[in-house]
Amino acid sequence: MPEPSADWWKSSVVYQIYPSSFKDSDGDGVGDIPGVIEKLDYLQLLGVDVVWLSPVYPSPWDDNGYDVSDYTGIDPRFGTLEDWDRLRDGLHERGMRLVMDLVVNHTSDRHPWFAASRAGDEDKRDFYFWRPGRDGGPPNNWGSVFSGPAWTYDEGRGEYYLHLFSPSQPDLNWENPKVRAAVHEVALWWLARGADGFRMDVINFVSKNPALPDGPVRGEYGDFTRHAVNGPRLHEFLHELHETAFTGRDVLTVGEMPGVGVGQARVHTNPVNRELDMVFQFEHVDLDHGPGGKFDPRPLDLARLRASLNRWQAGLDDHGWNSLYWNNHDQPRVVSRFGDDGRYRVESATAIATTLHMMQGTPYVYQGEELGMTNAHMDDIADYRDLETLNHHRAVVGSGRVDEATAMAAIARMSRDNARTPMQWTAGENAGFTTGTPWIGVNPNHTRVNAEAAVADPGSVFHHYRRLIALRKEHAVIARGRFAPLLEEDSRIYAYTRAYNGQTLLVLANWSDREAAVDLPEDVVGPEPELLIGNLPDPGSVLDPLRPWEARVHLGR
Ligand code: NOJ
Repeated sequence: MPEPSADWWKSSVVYQIYPSSFKDSDGDGVGDIPGVIEKLDYLQLLGVDVVWLSPVYPSPWDDNGYDVSDYTGIDPRFGTLEDWDRLRDGLHERGMRLVMDLVVNHTSDRHPWFAASRAGDEDKRDFYFWRPGRDGGPPNNWGSVFSGPAWTYDEGRGEYYLHLFSPSQPDLNWENPKVRAAVHEVALWWLARGADGFRMDVINFVSKNPALPDGPVRGEYGDFTRHAVNGPRLHEFLHELHETAFTGRDVLTVGEMPGVGVGQARVHTNPVNRELDMVFQFEHVDLDHGPGGKFDPRPLDLARLRASLNRWQAGLDDHGWNSLYWNNHDQPRVVSRFGDDGRYRVESATAIATTLHMMQGTPYVYQGEELGMTNAHMDDIADYRDLETLNHHRAVVGSGRVDEATAMAAIARMSRDNARTPMQWTAGENAGFTTGTPWIGVNPNHTRVNAEAAVADPGSVFHHYRRLIALRKEHAVIARGRFAPLLEEDSRIYAYTRAYNGQTLLVLANWSDREAAVDLPEDVVGPEPELLIGNLPDPGSVLDPLRPWEARVHLGR
């Protein structure tokens, strides 16, 4: 078992596994828990401390498992509860922890709670948001995240139910204390079975203005953000969950919070409030969205990215804690998105990783990120599987709002499926992911980009991640140091320092494909600093210009 210690998650690195695309053990084309178990030594070699497992619960699979029909089971496609126990033991034996995905803003419409609620069952009637229609239509003007209205009419009940995501994901009514008690039971059940914490899906959507008023109209529908995100009872609900399930337990909790601001996050993650250890904020991954949202992408502006991340570093210092991430199963691959997945794939993947991993907070690595896996570059809608992508395509192309070529270019850039293609283990058939037919296509670049080749190559993205992760354990300044921005006007360099106990860390990363001069005072990290890590051969000293996509970290004492 890992050693218990207060705040262990502050010096930890988390690895996210998206199980359907990680490793298939039985040839059905879908990854599974025994497949994860096969790869535990690989995770240990990388050096991560925690695995966050995306949902493995029974699910009709409308939203790839984020539509749960049984919170305390394992979907047969992934294995059994006994397999889960073996995974837990395998991780614990290696000193790693296992964090589960708690998806409790909504259930699947096939969850027995919803069936009972729909049938008007005494106990479950008010488990969801049911409302009569208005003027022959839905109760309010909200649109859903996955296109179309946020309400669906149910013949049986003669009312509409609310779903902020797809119609198969009805929102739970957290105003009802029985709902909250049921959620607490789920959390306690997994903790009793040996889970080490939770990533909580869209947890800042659980408190809604119970009047469910119309939102400001954007396009076809009203925006629910003002009335259903960061709602009036959110702090209370999170605190109650903490008191019931987490107090006195050695767990990691991270709340996914689209639309959270730094001031709110500071309250959620301040330990005195006993809500959450950290949150996933979205500001930095929304910066390349245009006025039309994610499928209206814009080039990234380094100045805005730096201003945003620096503000979060300053904002949570001392009174909260950051999560640090570029990627997850909902985001395109960072090397394609913010870097250069052609000529400078290795250099940009490692420079971008260095920029994030030296910050204050807990880094999250999404499967394949440590290999510099790229976007899928799929240009046929038939190759996509994600309902958000398919619904969007249908909505904009079907209605003639956007032409096919423009829509497909945006989808290729931003679709969640970019993150969901199978993990690239080898150069062989199906990238060594499955002996069957993969549920989604394998990226053809697996012949070059794969774990087997990367582990064998000391200059690979993998070994750079491995060293970044190891450094966090070796130098307290990386986990604990105070952050200070540098070169805030520079058009190419992302630079900052971290300071702790008389040590200063200088982080320099060139986010461009041109050489960049380092315009800093000579003594910025004191005399004769040590070079902790660089991403190119023959790294220079502190003030040497940075080559294209070069990153260096210097330590002065
Ligand atoms: C956030 C999850 O990460 C995403 O994959 C999912 O579609 C939505 N929440 C709805 O559960």
